[in-house]
Amino acid sequence: MCGIAGFIGKEMAVPYLIDCLERLEYRGYDSSGIALCKKGSIEVTKRKGKLAELKKAINVKEKKNSCCGIGHTRWATHGSPTEKNAHPHMSEKGLFAIVHNGIIENYAELKNELISEGVTFSSQTDSEVIAQLFEKNYKDDFLISARKTLSRLEGAYAIAVICRDFPDRIFCARKGSPLVLCFGEKGGFISSDVTSLAGQSNEIYRLDDGECALVSSEGAEFFFSDMVPKEKLPEKLNISAEDAQKQGYEHFMLKEIFEQNQTAARTVHGHIRGDDIFFEGLDSLFDIASDIRRIAFIGCGSAYHVCLSAKYVTERLTGIYCSAEIASEWRYSDSPVDKSTLCVFISQSGETADTLAALVKAKASGALTLGIVNVPSSSLSVKSDFVIQTAAGAEIAVATTKAYTAQLITVYLIALRLAKEKDCVDKEDYVRYTEFIRRIPDGISEILACVPGQAQKIAEEICNVSQIYFIGRNTDYPAALEGALKLKEVSYIPCEAYPSGELKHGTISLIEKGTYVVALMGSSDVLAKTAGNVKEVKSRGARVIFVGNADRIRTDNYGNEDKILSLPDSENVFSALYESIALQLLAYYVAKMRGCDIDKPRNLAKSVTVE
Ligand code: F6R
Repeated sequence: MCGIAGFIGKEMAVPYLIDCLERLEYRGYDSSGIALCKKGSIEVTKRKGKLAELKKAINVKEKKNSCCGIGHTRWATHGSPTEKNAHPHMSEKGLFAIVHNGIIENYAELKNELISEGVTFSSQTDSEVIAQLFEKNYKDDFLISARKTLSRLEGAYAIAVICRDFPDRIFCARKGSPLVLCFGEKGGFISSDVTSLAGQSNEIYRLDDGECALVSSEGAEFFFSDMVPKEKLPEKLNISAEDAQKQGYEHFMLKEIFEQNQTAARTVHGHIRGDDIFFEGLDSLFDIASDIRRIAFIGCGSAYHVCLSAKYVTERLTGIYCSAEIASEWRYSDSPVDKSTLCVFISQSGETADTLAALVKAKASGALTLGIVNVPSSSLSVKSDFVIQTAAGAEIAVATTKAYTAQLITVYLIALRLAKEKDCVDKEDYVRYTEFIRRIPDGISEILACVPGQAQKIAEEICNVSQIYFIGRNTDYPAALEGALKLKEVSYIPCEAYPSGELKHGTISLIEKGTYVVALMGSSDVLAKTAGNVKEVKSRGARVIFVGNADRIRTDNYGNEDKILSLPDSENVFSALYESIALQLLAYYVAKMRGCDIDKPRNLAKSVTVE
């Protein structure tokens, strides 16, 4: 989604702003801009389209004339992606410029009020009201104007604001949308995304909801939103500059796919000691395992697919009734929850608006809440009763890969620990499952060694088709959904996934000679059943790509040698993991052959902070 950058220092602001905006590019955007402050004036430059357009538009004079500036990459919500609607937005008389992430819900009312007082607006955005309010509320005190302005805003925001009269200060505030600061040798940096600050400092300040800061080149003063001062301590930044670089890979997506044996090892070794599975800070949750009557796993997109895997695995291992819920639907549903329900929220960013809203609903209903989050100190991790931090490290490609598999392994471990606490898994099975999970990093290494060649060959064959179907049953089904999502989001080929047995209830009418079907057959429990569904589509002319143990698929004469993404054997209940990694590789190579913008697919954003 939108990205905020800010720099105030002893050197010219432009190179730092551009560098930060470049690092924010991966989050998705359609226009960008910067505003530079010097005593007496604010200069704004904005462009529609790629950052390259903005870079071309910034002239040398601007590069030299200011050490204080703010920048923005916009992902349009209110108003189309035009230069006028791009941020920064200036107030009418040019006293203030602002950049904003989030949505001001009462902007129409505020805009009408300002128009009736004679203010002229120059964009269609909700954000511009913030700039106009700052100016209306200003006499000669930046903070008083900020206090009065914030008290009128409803909705979510992260803002950075510069004022013509204070060329050595940037004001920023957060409510519901992330904002972080750090201070290095060169000065103060502001960003909406902690990854973009990697390499600038080892310490960062994360603004909490309702917090503000007045930033100078030396440091920051922190306040509550009524401008009462508050103390704030920095936290360690655990992202290295290398994390934010491709390190020789052509794309971040490929780098992150290939990191999965290491991220899996971190996840596994972080939670298995001997035969015991442990999660720091979660003992009191496991102590009441026998009181949990229902578990709702809640997330969006790929995280929802992890929820669905979690449902299958947890029901199988623990016997607890589970459901997988799409956060944007569940938040508006009447699904019953009470204090015997555990709601598990799964999110890479920890900032997904619908998942956060679902968390608020769950807490209001008295449910216990557990967040599984990749970004430390994100809103979801701060607001959940219990938190598990996944060990995937910074994920830059928009399409999730390593964060998804870290989530998957985490839910496998939780299910197994719950099963042990509830005494509903045989000792022998428990040891076998634990041993399998311990060996997952090796299994992934095997996939990363063998599958890329197979995936490239298949990608050549399918890269120009007009549609692809994915089928899988039981624990294979969530991986079919994830495989289809991954392929469509990076290659733009329409893909749909179905439970294998569901195809004949309508969708099979779309299968004709030459239609490609990807059949997930990683779980031997249901392999013969899916094989039956494969026969149904083959007899209607479909070409089938198999995902599973190649020996088994060939021996049983299910499939043709050429089109197999071959996986190591998996415990059936955990089959989605290896299947998903093979399908990430397929998606990557298809997108590459189609010349797509793999790390930043069109219209997508890394962190979906709007409803
Ligand atoms: C797909 C993808 C998205 C995210 C979804 C939730 O590759 O990355 O579907 O999984 O937007 O995001 P988080 O996990 O940040 O809540």
